[in-house]
Amino acid sequence: MIKPFEWKNGKVVWLDVSRLPHEEVYYESSDLERLAKAIERMEVRGAPAIGVFAALSFAATIYNKEFKNIEELLKYSNKVIDRLSRTRPTAYNLFWALDRMKNTLHNAIKITDNINEIKKILVNEALQILNEDIEQNMKIGRIGSELIEDGDVILTHCNTGSLATAGYGTALGVIRAAWEQGKNIKVIATETRPLLQGARLTVWELVKDGIPVTLITDNMIGYVMSKQLVSKVIVGADRILLDGHVINKIGTYTIAVLADRHKIPFYVAAPTSTIDPKTTIDNVVIEERDPNEVRTVLGKVYITVPNVPVLNPAFDITPPELVKAIITEKGVIHPPYNQNIRRILKVK
Ligand code: MRU
Repeated sequence: MIKPFEWKNGKVVWLDVSRLPHEEVYYESSDLERLAKAIERMEVRGAPAIGVFAALSFAATIYNKEFKNIEELLKYSNKVIDRLSRTRPTAYNLFWALDRMKNTLHNAIKITDNINEIKKILVNEALQILNEDIEQNMKIGRIGSELIEDGDVILTHCNTGSLATAGYGTALGVIRAAWEQGKNIKVIATETRPLLQGARLTVWELVKDGIPVTLITDNMIGYVMSKQLVSKVIVGADRILLDGHVINKIGTYTIAVLADRHKIPFYVAAPTSTIDPKTTIDNVVIEERDPNEVRTVLGKVYITVPNVPVLNPAFDITPPELVKAIITEKGVIHPPYNQNIRRILKVK
């Protein structure tokens, strides 16, 4: 299994997925600004991966710094959380992981004033978050694979595999698990403009695993569905609201509408750390990225008139009525989501 990052000698090591599939380049750092830039530049991307990477970054920056006292450590930890929180606004796992690290720090301070002890507790917690993510993805895979039948052709969007998580993947984890069980399945991957996560990353992962994959451009989805070339859709999520709205890579909503039109089941696979118990549909923040991502192909070739006004929302919102079920590590959640998501999260 590809693991896109790890903890090594007090530093975070990561594979720069923005350069795949052409180059496999690894970086390592414990510098706050460099680690934050890795998320902003999408060297590390995908909601669960961003969360785990942020937890490791929090631990690494604190682990490598000298503090005179607890107050100084607390002040610095706030600076780290503030900087990492400003990297990408939509992926909920980022905020979930930083909250968990902050709580761990505050609990550690209650039991010890030994700074080295506290540093060790933080490193262990970040590694725990990393290992849990892989375990949860394997569970999502096992649970979700029960919905997959021999002969299925599954359309997936963006990249939700090992490269978008700590390993194995969510939607791609379901596909991977079904394949490992010997099910005869095929995948249609959408290229996912503007940054081509489907063409660059999903295809790369599936080819490595020997899972049959066909690549289409985003504007072919309606045609392939109308020709009955797709039997199921499975996508991931960047944030899921308690009422079942799913925020995911731009284009997901279009796929859900088309799937509904063609009576193709549309599934979402995500860990419960992607479910945001507080945000409502009125205050979701959709990340707006650099217009040059749309004006060019991967920043290299201009495909339009320079400076033409551009819209570049990185995510869209799929309403609950278009989602057949949400596959989590705690089980499959069916509608009515308002009730059933709360039950699984144990919130009111
Ligand atoms: O902009 P990205 O590449 O970070 O967007 C990623 C997605 O939209 C994924 O579908 C989502 O994070 C789920 S990854 C398991």
